[in-house]
Amino acid sequence: MNTDRQSRPLRHAGLLVLILAVGACTSESSDPPLPRALTLQAAGPIPASPQREGDAARGREALLTENYVGCGLPASAWRQLQGSTPIATLSGRNEASENLPYFLNAVTDDDGVDLVVNNCLSCHGATLFGEVVIGLGNEFADFTGNPSTAVERAGLAISDMAEAAAWERYADRIAAISPHVQMPTIGSNPANNLTFALMAYRDPDTHAWSDTPLLPLPTQQPPPVSVPPWWRMKKKHAMFNLGEGRGDHARYMMAASMMCIDELDELQAIDEYAPDIRAYITSLEPPIWPFSIDTGLAEKGQTIFEQTCSACHGRYGETSEYPNLLVDIEVLGSDPALMEQARDTGGPWVEWFRRSYYGKNTQVLPGSGYVAPPLDGIWATGPYLHNGSVPTIAHVLDSSTRPEIWMSLASDGNDRADYDTERLGWRYKPVTLEQTESLDSNELKRIYNTNRHGHSNSGHRFGDALSEAERAAVVEYLKTL
Ligand code: HEC
Ligand code: HEC
Repeated sequence: MNTDRQSRPLRHAGLLVLILAVGACTSESSDPPLPRALTLQAAGPIPASPQREGDAARGREALLTENYVGCGLPASAWRQLQGSTPIATLSGRNEASENLPYFLNAVTDDDGVDLVVNNCLSCHGATLFGEVVIGLGNEFADFTGNPSTAVERAGLAISDMAEAAAWERYADRIAAISPHVQMPTIGSNPANNLTFALMAYRDPDTHAWSDTPLLPLPTQQPPPVSVPPWWRMKKKHAMFNLGEGRGDHARYMMAASMMCIDELDELQAIDEYAPDIRAYITSLEPPIWPFSIDTGLAEKGQTIFEQTCSACHGRYGETSEYPNLLVDIEVLGSDPALMEQARDTGGPWVEWFRRSYYGKNTQVLPGSGYVAPPLDGIWATGPYLHNGSVPTIAHVLDSSTRPEIWMSLASDGNDRADYDTERLGWRYKPVTLEQTESLDSNELKRIYNTNRHGHSNSGHRFGDALSEAERAAVVEYLKTL
């Protein structure tokens, strides 16, 4: 870490600490290594866990104003970097934040430095046809580059000592995680790996940051994840694709604080409003399908859906029910890499979590497959499957048509013309391997190649046995959820 950084007075002090720490580490590491493998939970219904009550309105405010991440860029440097690039704002925020992009909060640190810090909407908010939708996973977020590049550029605009110290702290964290969070394709999210990297640099008992990793570092080729929408949480007993987030969800959601919250009392202060944020998240409704619907066809689709899909995905409307089912990977057949990462290397991370403040009222129990999610608002959340490997719902329902290598044609969710109202998803074009050879780097970032590790579009063949007409009816029905 820190090898390609500009040298500054503070940097030298940091490097010295780093060298001393490495020396200390090599001379006294006698503890036996932690077992890396984990036993996964068997498939089946996931039981509910008790949740703390909260106030949704207070939760929205906390989400969009508080400093639960704990570090960011000095506001002055951010403004210089941003220049006059247009931003998407969100109404109903406090004065300090109302002119910021919806995914940044304005805060002041203990030294009086004004900072802009990322909020949860960096991944869990996106624009849909011109409006910011809180809770919609951002499928256009670009994690393909080195995150340190922009932070280093911002650093050049800083002259004040207090600002330099705040910047340094943020830049160091970004430099530490940077090798573990770079993805080949725009939209693929590295959050899981990001969390594992942060745990590795933190003492689980004191929560103090360590300049050297205390645990094995995660892979530098993270399995891609498509960010699930928040409105599912009102139905879900466990968080995450593997159903690992059991126990108190509010505490689990605070994992973003691993970035820069280094002290227990600060975590406790965040925990006071965490149940409010959770209450807000569980109050969210999915966006309503904004195009026309053939209601007769949708009704036929409902019947087919209830016969073919409801056992796993539940029922909707007046007789709403949701089984919270973890489906075994052998039955499902979708890409196993995310599950295998937990199974083969998850031991130290689970143990870290258990010892930490985050683990006091939660359990980490990854499953031997993936949770069948509620399908509310599913039309708005493409691409599909946990790894975002399948561009539209029509392709989910007919596995023989899924493109092997494809390029997204949309660069955000603003333009209705980019949305495919027949197949449900953002428009794409299939690409051959030869064609990829003549693409420039901006186009290559939009290529999803299902042959890559973790990127397979296999499995979930539950729609294959339906006729073309039946599948069309199910698609019509899904528009109504
Ligand atoms: C860097 C991107 C990123 C940030 C920032 C982030 N999340 Fe997430 N979040 C994800 C991803 C990716 C998943 C899915 C992980 C999985 O299932 O393996 C997820 C899952 C979740 C879930 C579970 C959803 C479900 O259906 O199981 C909740 C709830 C959640 N996040 C809340 C939050 C909150 C609250 C914050 C801010 C404190 C936050 N997240 C910050 C990327 C992010
Ligand atoms: C045996 C259980 C099971 C059945 C039956 C089933 N599904 Fe699924 N479905 C799942 C699981 C598990 C996932 C998550 C798979 C993954 O992400 O790898 C999923 C994912 C999906 C997704 C993508 C969700 C997302 O957020 O990307 C859609 C859409 C979907 N199913 C629709 C259907 C429809 C429509 C049917 C009926 C034709 C159906 N499923 C039948 C278990 C099932």
